[in-house]
Amino acid sequence: MTTILVTGGCGFIGSAVVRQLLGARPEVRVVNVDALTYAANPATQRELERHARYRLERADIADTGALARLFTTHKPDGVLHLAAESHVDRSIDDATVFLKTNVTGTAVLLDCATAHWRTLTGSARERFRFVHVSTDEVYGSLGPAGHSTEESPYAPNSPYAASKASSDHLARAWHRTHGLPVVTSNGSNTFGPYQFPEKLIPLMIVRALTGASLPVYGKGENVRDWLYVDDHAAALVALLERGQPGEKYNVGGGNERRNIDVVRTLCAILDELVPDARGSHAERITFVADRPGHDLRYSIATAKIRRTVGWEPRQPFEAGLRATVAWYVANRHWWEPVLRQEYDGRRLGLGGAA
Ligand code: NAD
Ligand code: DAU
Repeated sequence: MTTILVTGGCGFIGSAVVRQLLGARPEVRVVNVDALTYAANPATQRELERHARYRLERADIADTGALARLFTTHKPDGVLHLAAESHVDRSIDDATVFLKTNVTGTAVLLDCATAHWRTLTGSARERFRFVHVSTDEVYGSLGPAGHSTEESPYAPNSPYAASKASSDHLARAWHRTHGLPVVTSNGSNTFGPYQFPEKLIPLMIVRALTGASLPVYGKGENVRDWLYVDDHAAALVALLERGQPGEKYNVGGGNERRNIDVVRTLCAILDELVPDARGSHAERITFVADRPGHDLRYSIATAKIRRTVGWEPRQPFEAGLRATVAWYVANRHWWEPVLRQEYDGRRLGLGGAA
């Protein structure tokens, strides 16, 4: 058996990675280290724990003692590190937990992984990889043209992006200083089933399904490059197997869209799947105060992972959106408790400027 330690496996992308590892690889056992924060849906965890080769270890990645024990107990063959505070708007309201989890937590994990890796010999040591999962936001905002490559300088603009950029530097430093075989991914905006309804696409869907307004920040002209969650998960598994130590890889969907166009497309799909007798869902779009420091555009060049790892995205954007809307329509049991208990859809991220 091969044991993969996944951090943040109860979250959106982490749970897709766990499903993929368990589904496609009968020799893989997954140990999921997750603190079960607000972003971890209990229904996601209940689904995962039905699997015999899956185990949840509830722990905070910033807890050195707990992490050291988990490495000693499970002796993983590789690490996929996704655990993070992931929402830009929350980082504007309070950055503290972003620094603790994304920066200190990553350093603790790198230290524990290094201590474990040093005990390995032969092919186990040769094959071991630590995949550090990061974001395209570390490159900062682009104008209307051009792309960020793996060589582009870092220019993070939100506290979230700054915390992720810090974690990338730590991952690089642990490779250069200690030799840990780290591979870093810089992924673009991800969407699909099981995403916490604070992010644009699931928030618009659940608000539409509950008859609420659809708040678009500023004029809706900001551009994001959308990547379907199963494609993102496949890229991370490919990097675990074929990524080169010390290298970083951009992971993007090649679907650049303005926010307003994404929301209008969502409304058209909703009009088909759940027509509202009062009119089109698009009539509920409202333009609201912009996000402070709102990055205009992200765009990443993805030639490196395509050429050297052989990964490419498969899901066309509109088909992915349709599958996502259909999933939220069919899985109210997953998101209705979230709206009641964790997050009611209110505006976040005005940082006291409301
Ligand atoms: P998410 O917010 O849905 O899930 C995060 C998970 O991490 C949750 O299960 C949570 O309980 C866990 N977690 C948080 N703090 C923890 C801690 N201190 N110790 C242990 N577990 C903790 O996140 P996501 O959207 O799935 O993102 C996963 C990773 O991918 C993050 O590192 C994020 O920066 C990166 N990323 C996300 C996107 C995106 O569009 N969502 C795009 C590119 C990169
Ligand atoms: O680029 C990768 C990043 O994408 C990840 O690293 C982050 O974890 C992930 O949250 C995401 O960050 P964004 O800030 O781009 O995603 P969000 O869904 O919060 O917002 C997408 C765009 O939509 C952004 O321009 C802000 C806008 N927006 C967002 C919300 C929540 C709105 O217009 N209205 C909203 O209500």
